[in-house]
Amino acid sequence: MKMNPISLFVLILLVQLKLSVVVLGNNVPPKPATNKAKRAPKTSPPEANLDKTLAPSLIRLHFHDCVVRGCDASILLNYRGSERRTKASKTLRGYKVINDIKSEVERQCPKTVSCADILTAVARDATLLAGGPFWEVPFGRKDGRISINREANRLVPQGNENITTLINLFESKGLNILDLVVLSGSHTIGRSSCSPIHSRLYNFNGTQGASDPSLDRKYSRILKQKCGPSSYYNTLVDLDATTPRTFDIKYYENLQKKMGLLSTDQSLYSDERSSSFVDTLVSQPSLFSIQFAASMVKLGNVGVLTRPHEGEIRLHCDYVNP
Ligand SMILES: *[C@@H]1O[C@H](CO)[C@@H](O)[C@H](O)[C@H]1NC(C)=O
Ligand SMILES: *[C@@H]1O[C@H](CO)[C@@H](O)[C@H](O)[C@H]1NC(C)=O
Repeated sequence: MKMNPISLFVLILLVQLKLSVVVLGNNVPPKPATNKAKRAPKTSPPEANLDKTLAPSLIRLHFHDCVVRGCDASILLNYRGSERRTKASKTLRGYKVINDIKSEVERQCPKTVSCADILTAVARDATLLAGGPFWEVPFGRKDGRISINREANRLVPQGNENITTLINLFESKGLNILDLVVLSGSHTIGRSSCSPIHSRLYNFNGTQGASDPSLDRKYSRILKQKCGPSSYYNTLVDLDATTPRTFDIKYYENLQKKMGLLSTDQSLYSDERSSSFVDTLVSQPSLFSIQFAASMVKLGNVGVLTRPHEGEIRLHCDYVNP
């Protein structure tokens, strides 16, 4: 089977990780990989031919998963009425990468690694490939059997919620304001469709023709060129206007300059509960790396199913087991 280079890289890491696996909860460790699995085929470096734009999408997929019913791969279930098939998930991508890894993992170590674990490890590896930090991913999550579109629409931030809503959402998942600020820093890479900023540019606060005063004037003009009045889902714009391909703290510097793309980005700097964290991250870039890793570990542990009779190891990530 021909695999996407990122998939292969992740697979190799998955196999290596089995040697130093950290297990969540009281779950029994996964069965050791077979010798065959350890001899993963050699290829060109994973960076070669990699679709770099997929990295932020994979991190986002993991976030969407964990926010709804915990990190249980509920986002991957693909049927009418599931999270994946709803408005909140409209611009998600990367399902094929996960499925490619899953089928390879199933071939080499059947019924051992859940889709939720794969998604969590992939988010880490995507971060690493994008130039971000490494962290250990504890394994042992099970996959859920329930996925409900309404829950995704109610919970997953769409880019225009107020900061109180964001803080409350994070707190309900055991994540604090620092986690919110730091995980939003994943917007140092990646793009958004024009849809969530349409009203910031053309119809602010319900006033036709008004743009958001918390948006830098020059940046606003540039955005209007990229996102015309009739641009919604077909046009993409960088979340980090200055260094969109580099995992760095420019995203936070941009917030200080009123250049946050989404109103949820900018709100991190306009509210005093979170703005001091932004200032701190700008002044201490190494803190961003360290805390990003720590907050991603916390995110990856939200609501995980680890007890013996909870969840299952899905055979295919798109469907619950028969
Ligand atoms: C934030 O949004 C929520 C939900 O839309 C709303 O109930 C709440 O009043 C808003 N809070 C502030 C401070 O604007
Ligand atoms: C939004 O509109 C409301 C009512 O039209 C007004 O009271 C409020 O001041 C406006 N807010 C901003 C930030 O312009």
